Amino acid sequence: MRSKVSIIGAGNVGATCAFRIAEKGYADIVLLDVIEGLPQGKGLDMLEATPIIDSDVKITGTNEYKETANSDIVVITSGVPRKPGMSRDDLVLTNMKIVREVTEGVVRYSPNCIIIVVANPLDAMTQLALHISKFPRNRVLGQSGILDSARFRTFIAQELDVSVKNVSTCVLGGHGDAMVPVTRLCTVGGIAISELLPEEKIDGLVERTVKGGGEIVSLLKTGSAFYAPAAATAQMVDAIILDRKEILPCAAYLEGEYGINGVVVGVPVKLGKNAIEQIVEIKLTPEEDAALKKSANAVLELIKIMGL
Ligand code: 2OP
Repeated sequence: MRSKVSIIGAGNVGATCAFRIAEKGYADIVLLDVIEGLPQGKGLDMLEATPIIDSDVKITGTNEYKETANSDIVVITSGVPRKPGMSRDDLVLTNMKIVREVTEGVVRYSPNCIIIVVANPLDAMTQLALHISKFPRNRVLGQSGILDSARFRTFIAQELDVSVKNVSTCVLGGHGDAMVPVTRLCTVGGIAISELLPEEKIDGLVERTVKGGGEIVSLLKTGSAFYAPAAATAQMVDAIILDRKEILPCAAYLEGEYGINGVVVGVPVKLGKNAIEQIVEIKLTPEEDAALKKSANAVLELIKIMGL
């Protein structure tokens, strides 16, 4: 039997993510949006692609939460994207209303699902979904670290003219201006990045990574990145549905890990059929530790604004 994945929000991230998952063939998909016709039209278009992409999945577009009933995974992409010059945090008051309502609808029909949040500000919206759903923390997580790490990998690969597959990076912290690319743990074909690039060059790539989302926003002028965010989300869905036990950076609610308590922040986790099966703790240097705590504090500010 195929799994069921529902995607809330049929905008660029939601639709692109739905199509990537449809191509895998392991899950039927429900695409939900408040705009009448949008999820139905995109869903039908994708369904008509299934003979070509050789996938037998069902894809349903809908405006009704009841169609999402008994989903294994629900991906929440709803919310407004930022405009040029805005930070992700500027979206908190608008998107909290949307994510609150969406989470209530999701939980009503899929009380046992796993929720993956993609709406921004990512860590705060993940914490809101956790709070509203009252689910255990392993079943509510956010997509951000895979995207930020992928950006860093791309820039390193470009700089060295090597395959992106050779590059492994670790980005911790919130999905915001205080994110923490841990350069000490970056490798290229198993070789520490510090052996291959001078410090100033690495600093430049870190800076570009931290501002990576903003770079796309200013190029697009309307809307934000979606191909890489959707691919990152689909990788999380894969790891869960296929029980891959992959170690991936995800936004997770910490209860003392890394000396941080009561806040969602990006850390390496083991992703398998139970979603977060382990939070992987690594020993950080005092500087890295301070940067991670600073990033967590930035998320906490948003949690206070939301009154959670
Ligand atoms: C990004 O970093 C949209 O937050 C997303 O591109």
